[in-house]
Order: sequence, then structure tokens, then C-alpha cells
Amino acid sequence: MRTIAFVTQKGGAGKSTLASSVAVAARAAGERVFIIDLDPLQTLVKWAGAREASDIGVEHVPPSKLSKAVAALEKKGVTLVVIDAPGQDGEPAAAAMRVADLCVIPARPNAFDLWASEKTRAQVKEEGCDYAFLLNQCPPAQQSARVELGAKALQAMGGLLAPLVSSRVDYQEAARLGLGVSEYNPEGVAAQEMKELWGSIKRRLKRVPAKAAPAKPEKAVAEKPAPAPKAPAAKAAIAPEPKAALKKPAKKAA
Ligand SMILES: Nc1ncnc2c1ncn2[C@@H]1O[C@H](COP(=O)(O)OP(=O)(O)O)[C@@H](O)[C@H]1O
Ligand SMILES: [Mg+2]
Repeated sequence: MRTIAFVTQKGGAGKSTLASSVAVAARAAGERVFIIDLDPLQTLVKWAGAREASDIGVEHVPPSKLSKAVAALEKKGVTLVVIDAPGQDGEPAAAAMRVADLCVIPARPNAFDLWASEKTRAQVKEEGCDYAFLLNQCPPAQQSARVELGAKALQAMGGLLAPLVSSRVDYQEAARLGLGVSEYNPEGVAAQEMKELWGSIKRRLKRVPAKAAPAKPEKAVAEKPAPAPKAPAAKAAIAPEPKAALKKPAKKAA
């Protein structure tokens, strides 16, 4: 199982939008996906409420239960956990950085987002997580000097995932309907971008060793003596019915 986290202190950079559409693209590519919504605003819990399909489990988990929740998901056969972090500094984002194999840091091509990315990168490094940047909401004519400068700056800071993600209404409409862009408009440019992005993330993950356990144990876990290795203990952080996360997808009509 691999765990990716969308993190940046900058609100509005596209964490929740990209986390949901990448999760859907990964599901379509055969992963068993579970989304952990760490944001107290619970954006993706609401997204799941609007979603008709129950192929991707989504749950809000407090940071103190995150590593237990991730361990429980691995036992349940989930192959990809996508964490949507809140747009602030502090423990929730740090907890995500500790459990994730890869932090994806989205930024829009503007100075404020790029400055915030530098701060987030410093925190990610401190927490010992591998990371890659992502340029989001690029004007569709991607050759603008601003986009080029943004891409260069992120590349210099440690690597930019392909492709550059464009600003498109599909992302907003899909989110509103509880869909990923590849479900909302399968033939659209945004759908293609998310398929490519999942491909890039997957390739990047191959170069990153899987984290066996959080680098720094969570307080709640560290204080207790190790529990007896019974199955129910691992379940605690995740609701008994994770919205059919492990259900096989419905068979497509021939
Ligand atoms: N590529 C995109 N194209 C168009 N709108 C986008 C795109 N990415 C994000 N948005 C919009 O930008 C806003 C902020 O995105 P969101 O995912 O909520 O950011 P965050 O979770 O980082 O705060 C939302 O209204 C969302 O619909
Ligand atoms: Mg969000």
C-alpha cells in the first residue's frame, strides 16, 4: 500500500480538487483507494456525500488517529491512501507528512503560492517525507511567462510533476457533483491531465521506499503500551463500514 498526501499551507491551491480527481483516476487504473480527509472543513467528506458511487471510501480522521487509520486500511487491502490536508501549518499537516510516502505540493503560478510552497517544502523536509510539486490552475495557453517561471521555480525547489494542470471548469463541476474529472468528462483535457498525473505519481512512488511506520510516533499511540495483536485494535480509527471501499467495481456493461 502507498500513501500520498496533498499538502500546502496555501488555501485554494487545489489540494482537495486534485486529491479527489487523482483518487478517481487511480481507482479507474485499478487501485483500491481510500481518501482520508484531515481538514476540519471536511471538504472531501462532503464531496463523498454528493458522490453516488461507493467505490472510494472517504473518512475524516483526526491527526492523532492518522497512523492507526492508515495501518487499518493496509490490513483491509487498500492499495492507495490519498490524504487531503488542511491549508494551515500545524499538527494535521505534519501528521500527514509523517505517514505519507510522498507529499504532493500544489501551487498556482503566482508569487504568493510559490512563497508558500517554499515554507511547505521546509516543513515536509523536516518531517522526513519525499515530495514533488505540482503546478495547478495554469491558464490553458500554457506558454505564458508566468507559468514558465513558476514551473522553473518549482523544478529548482526539488521537482515538478507532469503535467501542468490547467484551469478548467471541469474541475469545479466534477467536484460539485462528487465526481473526478475523468468521470465528469472522460474525453476532456482535464480527464487526460488527471490520468497523466496519476501515472507521474505512480512512477515517482516507485523511487520512494514505503514507510513502514511513522517517523515520529503519534502521541496517543506512543503513550499506550503496545496492544495485543488482535484484529479489532487496528480498526479503531476507521469506521466499521468504510463506505464499501473494498467492494469490487460494478461490472461494466459489455
Ligand atoms: N485546475 C483547476 N481548474 C479550475 N478550478 C480549480 C482547479 N483547481 C482548483 N480549482 C478551484 O479552486 C478552488 C480551490 O480549490 P481547492 O481544491 O478547494 O483548494 P485547497 O483544498 O487547496 O484549499 C475551488 O473553487 C476549486 O474548484
Ligand atoms: Mg481543501
